[in-house]
Amino acid sequence: MLAGSVTVDTGSAAPYEVCVAPSLDLAAVSGALPPGTAAILTDSSVGPLHADAVSGALVEAGWEISEVVTVPAGEVSKSLAVYEMVLRRLAAAGLPRDGTLFALGGGVVGDLGGFVASSYMRGINLVQLPTSLLAMVDSSVGGKVGLDLPEGKNLVGAFLQPQLVAANLDWLVTLPDRELSQGLAEVVKMGILSGGSFFDDLGKYLGAARDRDAEALGALILDSVRYKAAVVTEDEREAGLRAVLNYGHTVAHGLEAAAGYDLPHGEAVAVGMLAAARLSKDKLGSDLIGAHRDLLREAGLPLTAPATDVEAVLGAMGRDKKRRSSDEEGRYRFVLLEEIGNPVHGVPVTAAEARSAIGSILER
Ligand SMILES: NC(=O)c1ccc[n+]([C@@H]2O[C@H](COP(=O)([O-])OP(=O)(O)OC[C@H]3O[C@@H](n4cnc5c(N)ncnc54)[C@H](O)[C@@H]3O)[C@@H](O)[C@H]2O)c1
Ligand SMILES: [Zn+2]
Repeated sequence: MLAGSVTVDTGSAAPYEVCVAPSLDLAAVSGALPPGTAAILTDSSVGPLHADAVSGALVEAGWEISEVVTVPAGEVSKSLAVYEMVLRRLAAAGLPRDGTLFALGGGVVGDLGGFVASSYMRGINLVQLPTSLLAMVDSSVGGKVGLDLPEGKNLVGAFLQPQLVAANLDWLVTLPDRELSQGLAEVVKMGILSGGSFFDDLGKYLGAARDRDAEALGALILDSVRYKAAVVTEDEREAGLRAVLNYGHTVAHGLEAAAGYDLPHGEAVAVGMLAAARLSKDKLGSDLIGAHRDLLREAGLPLTAPATDVEAVLGAMGRDKKRRSSDEEGRYRFVLLEEIGNPVHGVPVTAAEARSAIGSILER
């Protein structure tokens, strides 16, 4: 059979399975949990395409579906207003405290649904059914859930490990091309950080994954889940090692904020990784820029960001919540690469060095 599963054991919660397969038998994998009363959370793009089949499979496995809540597609739904609406729909439907929430959608539905599950009646069970590539490889693994505030992204949240993550590769058939590439940016990031056979798989499978080849997608998703699970298992609460997952993200966050969040996250990460590769060359002597360019091109990602004010990017990087107060003397802390598979985190970078690296990836 294609694809497979990964067990995630974070120590603080019960271990859970991430199951990945084409034509995934949701009745079988969800039936491994004790079926009870459940609700499905989805969005206005994914719901009409996939919610009926999911609901049918769950009923077949013995679940009673008390409510299907559909929120508007997009980041707008990670808001307090939508959160309140979802909680009230679950309460009105009488979802009990031993109920389960199935979050069927991309990272937005996963983060929102996870935060709902962490707080409704002081916490109910959560099953992640990720439908975007980004959600399959990144947001559904690691237990971070939450919402945005008008003041900034992901400012409200919790850690909640799901009971199960089940990803049907068939769902990716309806995912728009540009969204697929957003997910591939995180796959390329993790393959570069991991090195070894995962890095080799990037060369082997990226092109076919863009053509929605199930074997290629399955291989890259399992590589990514295995890698992210290993990193977050060692560092569940983000004390140190987990910081490597921020590779490419320091500049990406700056570019996204400077562009008023008009730049898709994966595209910002792609050029952010190129800026980090440039810094790795300048500061650590590793020449990995060509390797980055080849992989990003293969993944359908840009190699430059739209021209913007470098100072605005630097300013927005300074406001990154992931910076710790001890970071002042270095100005910025970057994850850089000694070589493929060998990241170092917390490397101090001056404003002048950051400015020149950002300048190198802006269109002129
Ligand atoms: N919790 C974490 O650790 C973590 C990590 C990374 C990102 N995130 C969060 O994830 C979110 C981004 O996730 P995303 O990129 O999946 O965004 P998303 O959930 O908005 O999905 C992107 C778009 O694709 C659509 N879509 C999803 N699956 C589809 C399918 N199978 N067919 C057709 N359309 C489909 C969605 O409706 C949406 O319009 C952000 O809010 C980000 O903060 C969280
Ligand atoms: Zn990211």
